[in-house]
Amino acid sequence: MQLWKGRFQKELDPKTNDFNSSISFDSRMYKEDIDGSIAHATMLSAQGIISADDLSKIVKGLKEIKSEIESGTLLIDPNAEDIHTFVEGELTARIGAAGKRLHTARSRNDQVALDIRLYLKNQCNELYAQLTELIDVLCKKAKQYASAVMPGYTHLQRAQPITFGHHLLAYAEMLLRDKERLLDATERMNYCPLGSCALAGTTYNTDREMVAKDLGFTAPMQNSLDGVSDRDFCIELAAALSIIMVHLSRFSEEIVLWSSFEFKFIELDDAFSTGSSIMPQKKNPDITELIRGKSGRVFGDLQTLLVMMKGLPLAYNKDMQEDKEAIFDAFDTVKMCLTAFIPMLDTMVALPENMRRAAAGGFINATDCADYLVGKGIPFRDAYKATGELVAICIEKGLTLETLPMDEYKKVLDVFDEGVYEAIDLDKCVNDRTSLGGPAPKNVLQQVLRVQNLNK
Ligand code: ARG
Repeated sequence: MQLWKGRFQKELDPKTNDFNSSISFDSRMYKEDIDGSIAHATMLSAQGIISADDLSKIVKGLKEIKSEIESGTLLIDPNAEDIHTFVEGELTARIGAAGKRLHTARSRNDQVALDIRLYLKNQCNELYAQLTELIDVLCKKAKQYASAVMPGYTHLQRAQPITFGHHLLAYAEMLLRDKERLLDATERMNYCPLGSCALAGTTYNTDREMVAKDLGFTAPMQNSLDGVSDRDFCIELAAALSIIMVHLSRFSEEIVLWSSFEFKFIELDDAFSTGSSIMPQKKNPDITELIRGKSGRVFGDLQTLLVMMKGLPLAYNKDMQEDKEAIFDAFDTVKMCLTAFIPMLDTMVALPENMRRAAAGGFINATDCADYLVGKGIPFRDAYKATGELVAICIEKGLTLETLPMDEYKKVLDVFDEGVYEAIDLDKCVNDRTSLGGPAPKNVLQQVLRVQNLNK
């Protein structure tokens, strides 16, 4: 059944029908389609465009269709052109003429624009809740490992001492921004296109404010051409989702590194690891690798949307039917990744002894040694050079700054005294890094409270 058969002499070629149809991927919007239709019909009746009797038949019919789809007693016809066609056809089969009046002062163009917005609003809420949960887990772990000293890296070379709690909170900051971005995009998307009709509004005396309010939108969209042809919100959300995937992917990469024998900073729970079919010793961080890999899909979805839209003249073009698979896939993927990632992180155990061992072996307190000299009145540049020489001596002798004897220190600069050993003590180095945003355990505990507050 097509909604547009009036002028045609022939049926659409069957294979072309499959090509043209979007039912396989837009049927997931059946609920939004029905809710939108109920709001539309309610407005039509309030404005005297359809009768109260037609309205009650329409509402009853649509509600029945919704609950039958939900319970599985009504199967969505895979040969229908799209979900809008299916619902209207089913309604008309049940209630006759009243069903045929539903589409007055409406087009599938504004209908689909409405349905996607309603559907994505829900998706945003679900994703927002998952991000909140992830940040909660990060806060819990950051508190637990607030004073676990580990090496901080630049260029993946040991750089300066930090704490594991501090490292985890860096991701909490990114995820807080991700939540903000989602919220922002949701608010910008929250304008109702229904009533734009095909592209040029209508001569009927519709009340677009009423529909917008009924469906929970801030206001109706103000230009009918824009109403049917805007997909900015899909692009914006795909961009926000891509950034989330960048964050999850970087985090995943670190977990892959940390769980290797070379690092062994963490141990993943068996329930979130996999083995090898040939190498009995293997315990692989597959989940994180998959997340790293799946980030590419989401970036691809963003690209699909940008390229699909960039050459389209106003207003609706069928190209835009391609929006749904891309944006649905982006949401499905990110939500699926988080579903695995959150409990994996929650059950992950850190190994602070190994972190500390790595922190002790890589001269990450060299800056602190230089700072100690600055405290003795040596200009920083000279202090930096002297410390560099000490590092070279240590490397040559197979020692660390902690184990290098005092006479070696004094050979480089006479101002050195026993106080240097205290100054380069890892715990002291970390505890003293109390500058705003720094890794000291005290800071971490404060930041946990701040993040938890923002995450409410
Ligand atoms: N299935 C279509 C889509 O997703 C619905 C809108 C169809 N409009 C039209 N003028 N053919 O975009």
